[in-house]
Amino acid sequence: LREHEEFTKVKNIATIELGKYEIETWYFSPFPPEYNDCLKLYFCEFCLNFMKRKEQLQRHMRKCDLKHPPGDEIYRSGTLSMFEVDGKKNKVYGQNLCYLAKLFLDHKTLYYDVDLFLFYVLCECDDRGCHMVGYFSKEKHSEESYNLACILTLPPYQRKGYGKFLIAFSYELSKKEGKVGTPERPLSDLGHLSYKGYWTRVLLDILKKHKGNISIKELSDMTAIKAEDILATLQTLELIQYRKGQHVICADPKVLDRHLIQAGRGGLEVDVSKLIWTPYK
Ligand code: ACO
Ligand code: ZN
Repeated sequence: LREHEEFTKVKNIATIELGKYEIETWYFSPFPPEYNDCLKLYFCEFCLNFMKRKEQLQRHMRKCDLKHPPGDEIYRSGTLSMFEVDGKKNKVYGQNLCYLAKLFLDHKTLYYDVDLFLFYVLCECDDRGCHMVGYFSKEKHSEESYNLACILTLPPYQRKGYGKFLIAFSYELSKKEGKVGTPERPLSDLGHLSYKGYWTRVLLDILKKHKGNISIKELSDMTAIKAEDILATLQTLELIQYRKGQHVICADPKVLDRHLIQAGRGGLEVDVSKLIWTPYK
């Protein structure tokens, strides 16, 4: 089955309907074979069950009583809420989310073993319910110190700062765990751009405050960003010199200011006082 999947990466589903949006898909996703003869799929925006016909969805919506992702609401600020969904407790939801996400993720393996993952689903809420804008998944236990496996902002919500919000959120969870984290590789082009933007902004802000008098280890402790990612980011910004066998940060204030201007918008902030969460045990 794996091999078959690898060699038939022909896009199957061309569009999906999700909530008020009709969305064109980007990539192949291995939906069960009975869905392979249709170009469009209809998703329930709350439980993420998918159907072949509009009438089936309409019938489903009359009896589906979910108005938000299953699981615990761990963050709420204004109309923005984050839900934590345990893949073991909500297996079908986890699988549906993976099928949906794969439509927009290229070289990611689709995990059928959703038991091992937590899903952090970001929603915009109104009087009709909590509408998913994006999510990230996280292994319950990662040997490689991954704090994020897959990240997605649904296309209608992209370029509004939600991606950087999700990334920031993943690091806030790592801080609460007292661990450093890094995203699972490989990163897509868009994933790389978003991470590079996030790392640059966070590190430059601290360097500016500390006038550069800070080590990579200290930066890592403060941000939960893995030292390798910090080094790589500062190297691209040309803020690292190699002296006597050691990497040292050389943060000329003028260079910092120039980079900060280029770094662009800070985006939506995670208000940590509104995060109510304890690490998975
Ligand atoms: N063109 C150029 N730059 C872009 C684009 C784009 N289309 N999209 C994002 N960026 C860059 C920009 O620098 C942007 O910052 P700016 O708007 O301040 O300039 C930054 O990335 C982040 O933008 P956000 O609005 O915060 O991110 P968004 O909500 O669009 O989500 C994400 C980014 C999650 C990568 C989204 O593009 C996506 O879901 N892509 C498809 C799935 C994917 O590739 N996921 C990452 C795979 S890697 C992994 O999962 C570990
Ligand atoms: Zn439903």
